[in-house]
This record gives sequence, C-alpha cells and structure tokens, in this order.
Amino acid sequence: MSEQFTMLKTNDEIRRRIAELAAAVSADYADIATAEHPLLLLCTLRGAVFFSADLVRAVSIPIELDFLKVHSYINTESALEPVFDLGRDICVKDRHVLILEDIVDTGRTMAAVRKHFEDKGAASFRICTMLDKPGRRVPECADIVPDYIGFTIPDLFVVGWGLDYNEKFRLLPDIMVYHPEA
Ligand code: IMP
Repeated sequence: MSEQFTMLKTNDEIRRRIAELAAAVSADYADIATAEHPLLLLCTLRGAVFFSADLVRAVSIPIELDFLKVHSYINTESALEPVFDLGRDICVKDRHVLILEDIVDTGRTMAAVRKHFEDKGAASFRICTMLDKPGRRVPECADIVPDYIGFTIPDLFVVGWGLDYNEKFRLLPDIMVYHPEA
C-alpha cells in the first residue's frame, strides 16, 4: 500500500516563508498603516487561522484583525458558489484591506470576497495566501492573482497547517499532499 501523505512543505520552510511575507507586507504598508488607521487583516475561517496567527504576530505595522467565514456549496447548476458569512458587518469603507487566505484554488472564493469589499468601498483590496494553485483557476477568475503568495504549488490536494480534508488533518505540523485512495 502506498503512502497516504507525502511531504510538500516542512514546518521550517513554512515558518521561514511566513516571516518573509510578514516583512514584505510590513514594508509595503509602512506608509499607509498608522495607529489611527491600521491595516485591516481579514482572516478567512477556518483554514487560514494558523497562517494568520503566525503572520499577524510577525508584522511590524499597526493592524486590526477580523474574521470572515467562507464556504462553498453546490448550487442547482452544479457549480461551486462561495457563500460567506460576516457574522456582523465589517466596515471597510475607505479602509485598506488585506485578506489572509489558506489556499487559492479555482479563485471563486476570492473573486466573491473581492467583489463584496470593493462594493462596500474599501480603499484597497489585496490578497495574501499561504498557497496558490494557479493551474486550477477557472477562466472567469483568471484575474485573481494574489499579491502575496507563500508557495505556488501544482494541482494537488494538500492538508495540514490549517488545511483540512472533511475537517481532518488541520493540525498536521507540515503541509502534506493527501492521497485518500492510498
Ligand atoms: P476556491 O474558491 O476554489 O479558490 O477555493 C478555495 C477554498 O477551497 C480554500 O479556501 C480551501 O478551503 C479549499 N481548498 C482548495 N484546495 C484545497 C486543498 O488542496 N486542500 C484543502 N482545501 C482546499
């Protein structure tokens, strides 16, 4: 029987890369984020919680952290439509928003989230994702190009560091490729 998991990114590699991303975000927003007008970091629940917790503790600019619950469902046309639940209204008018995402796959989730916040008058909207699978992007989301990317990966299903398979394996300390059939 072959292995169910294969290593993709080790704990050390992930930590080092998150530190680099935090430094890049801090440099890019240094002149924009102030104590009075902090950068609004929005973590998508639940997959991006681990990534966000590490990143926000490593940035050196004033930030405010909030959360956004996103999930996808199969609609009557059998297309995946992301729905998101803000729980309450997050006021983004004239604010600089940086979304923290675990993985960008088809791009539909980020396209819906971007549209929502741009419609609500955000001053700017950028995406910071731990992983990007550009090979999976659907044509209508071809313009979803994350501004900060931890790692670009091939079309593989991955778990660990917050990423799950049916709510399992989120706590794995590394990012592993999952082979359910193995
Ligand atoms: P998108 O809307 O297709 O870009 O999907 C994004 C969401 O799909 C992510 O936030 C994840 O929850 C989920 N997802 C996509 N690929 C993977 C994967 O390889 N492992 C775990 N979750 C994934």
